[in-house]
Amino acid sequence: MFQLNDDQIAIRDAARDFAREQIEPGAMERDHKAEFPKDIIQQLGEMGFMGMCVPEVYGGAGLDTLSYTLALEEIAYVDASVAVTMSVNNSVACAPILAFGTEAQKQKYLKPLASGEELGGFMLTEPDAGSDAAALKTKATKVDGGWNLNGAKAWITNGGIARFYVVMAITHPELGKKGISAFVLDANQPGVVMAKPEDKMGLRSSKTVMVTLEDAFVSDDDMLGKPGDGLKVAFGGLDGGRIGIAAQALGMAQRALDESVSYAKARHAFGKPIGEQPALQTYLAEMEARVQASRLLIHKAAHLKDAGLPCTREAATAKLFSTENAVWVCDRAVQIHGGYGYSREYVVERLYRDVRVTTIYEGTTEIQRLVIARDLMK
Ligand code: CAA
Repeated sequence: MFQLNDDQIAIRDAARDFAREQIEPGAMERDHKAEFPKDIIQQLGEMGFMGMCVPEVYGGAGLDTLSYTLALEEIAYVDASVAVTMSVNNSVACAPILAFGTEAQKQKYLKPLASGEELGGFMLTEPDAGSDAAALKTKATKVDGGWNLNGAKAWITNGGIARFYVVMAITHPELGKKGISAFVLDANQPGVVMAKPEDKMGLRSSKTVMVTLEDAFVSDDDMLGKPGDGLKVAFGGLDGGRIGIAAQALGMAQRALDESVSYAKARHAFGKPIGEQPALQTYLAEMEARVQASRLLIHKAAHLKDAGLPCTREAATAKLFSTENAVWVCDRAVQIHGGYGYSREYVVERLYRDVRVTTIYEGTTEIQRLVIARDLMK
């Protein structure tokens, strides 16, 4: 766990090179224009980064979760919007189809998603069901050959751009939580209505939309798992997703720290670099400690997942700790940069906005605490 193997180092370095050479140059402009990085996502697909843990036979790269977190960290270091697009496709679109899909579903949906030919998304959240996911209201009504989906899905990352979505809906209302089932939905039909992208504080070049389902059709063959497996499909995917979001937050925190160190060396006040002022040294040291600790928690959770061991608690712990600390680290980076940190010309300003959502999506900080505490009390 403390030493990466040669393959993991090669993946990390390939991600770092691509991120710094190809993603970084337009990141600030895309953020300002809220422009989706279509070409970059396509290139990531060609590199095998859109289905990193999917076996090669299904179009993926056949890598481990640790390699996935290394790549995500490197990509988030330069552009967290690209990282979330990639994370959602890998963790909550590909992974549930790999875990629960039939051979036919893997051929039909996983192959295009993992190879980057199509983009994927995840429709769990609704306007009135966020943290309490089981309170979702979207209904699946049985019709000839399949189901008609009706309802509203909120905050859908990759919405409007992605083609295939893992979607949760009520098939058997009389069974409560056990009456929720999962499907793969093809958005290429009139019953899937995408609203205008949300006008967000950060991650501005990734797309997030509200989706209305109006008799959106899924065939019987599109159900993932058994009837009633919906929450298992969703929460199982979110275990891996949370490790990914922790890695995304870590990438931003590491960047904020590196920018702060450079700035603290270059900027002088009271006759010396500001990095020699004890007050700032306290910040830098604390930032470094929190970044290092986050990385260890993420690698541990990834390691357990790769070993096929339970990792729900560890994934939640990694997400809780890494995202809360990344928010803190990015905040301190702005403070260290003084007035410049408040300027849109400095990357720490974007990091400060982008990092904020990491304590909210894929389960809030409060939900991670609930998941951890429940597991401890088992
Ligand atoms: N893996 C597999 N199955 C799991 C599981 C896991 N980690 N956790 C729970 N389950 C199963 C349970 O075993 C249960 O099935 P059985 O009844 O057959 O045992 C079923 O799922 C329901 O579990 P709970 O009864 O524990 O569910 P709950 O209603 O009490 O909810 C919760 C628990 C932790 C609060 C959950 O609702 C939750 O995680 N909420 C947060 C939702 C969330 O993270 N949303 C993120 C949206 S996606 C997103 O943000 C993507 C993006 O855009 C970036």
